Amino acid sequence: MKKNWNSQFSDNLKGYGGYSIGKLFALLSDPEIISLAGGLPSPEMFPKEDMRNASQKLLLENLDTIFQYTNIKGESSLLEAIIKFLKRDNIDVSEENIMITSSGQHGLDITGRLFLNPGDIVFVDRPTFAGAIVAFQLQRPEFIGFDIEEDGPDVASYLKKIKELQKQDKKPKFIYVVPDFQNPSGITMSLEKREALLDLSYEYDIPIIEDSPYRDLRYYGKTIPSIFELDQRREEGNVIGLYTFSKLFCPGIRVGFNIGPKDVIARMINIKEGNVLNTPKYNQDMCTAFLTEMNYEPHLEKCRNYYREKLKVFLQTMEKYFPAKMGVTWTKPEGGLFLWVTVPEHIDTYELFYEALKFKVAFVPGSTFYGENSSKNHMRINFSFASKEQLAEAVKRLSSCIKSKL
Ligand SMILES: Cc1ncc(COP(=O)(O)O)c(C=O)c1O
Repeated sequence: MKKNWNSQFSDNLKGYGGYSIGKLFALLSDPEIISLAGGLPSPEMFPKEDMRNASQKLLLENLDTIFQYTNIKGESSLLEAIIKFLKRDNIDVSEENIMITSSGQHGLDITGRLFLNPGDIVFVDRPTFAGAIVAFQLQRPEFIGFDIEEDGPDVASYLKKIKELQKQDKKPKFIYVVPDFQNPSGITMSLEKREALLDLSYEYDIPIIEDSPYRDLRYYGKTIPSIFELDQRREEGNVIGLYTFSKLFCPGIRVGFNIGPKDVIARMINIKEGNVLNTPKYNQDMCTAFLTEMNYEPHLEKCRNYYREKLKVFLQTMEKYFPAKMGVTWTKPEGGLFLWVTVPEHIDTYELFYEALKFKVAFVPGSTFYGENSSKNHMRINFSFASKEQLAEAVKRLSSCIKSKL
């Protein structure tokens, strides 16, 4: 190839490396490796029989329409089902407040495109969801990260930074949070902090992007109102909610939805017009069936029981194989699919990843989850995909691997 394409690429792509986890996942083809790396829900939790029935019905009855172009905003039947679904979480929206997306990742991409100019500031947690970083990065913002605490984002530091930025006539374009069982840390934001974040959002006029893929996967403790709900109670409209069917139904369906003030949603639809146009109707109809025909409440309860057991096994085995003297700590999530392990500071988990492959176990190095100034001695662990036996074995292998570095 003679042509040098690099000079042709847009400024937005300069220095953009994409999703770095992808490169690591390519190394996990050895079937002996127990991977705790992906964010995969367990296929055992796919409602398979219901999916077969719903799919068969669609193929038999709606073949003329399900593979046609369809509404850009989304199918009315799905919008209606989502409105009902959100009501059980005390969120009251109408069709004008929702846009169907082709996955949570798509929802993030559209959010970044809607709000960010190059150089705009985005507040994120340290660590935060890597997919959000790569989605927003395409608009070349500046990330400012704040160490997440046991009860969620460090709202006091947000405030301090906002005041500092004010002196330079700057402010963040938005604050991105995953308040429930955050990916990657598993940490949940307390009610007090949700309220404090809203106070700050109103006082300084900074929108909040609340990304909520795991809200329904709570295994312990009491549900805390979403920031979207709290904002609705205060009638301000400063919050945009991002949702996906990936973790509750199945990720391959690639359907999610964004909710927010109608002016915001209208502009998001404009972006989708030039972007994917419509989300496949078949996939949307399958999600409608999930919400209307598949008895999703007992299904979600089944998922909670199943993942709770896996989490329990993981945590119990960690206690056994990581005695305090090893200097390894980990979060104890009340839900979701992930937890966050911190190893002694001299261990770089990016290097440890390759060492762990020799022990036939894999995780995601923590440095992937930072918008800026990444920290090197952490790892994200997924406990939803591997079997309980594999989880216990993986912990043993991890322990041996880390011991070899102490
Ligand atoms: C916090 C968060 N947001 C968004 C997504 C993207 O979800 P989807 O698989 O629907 O693109 C994920 C997936 O892991 C996630 O953890």
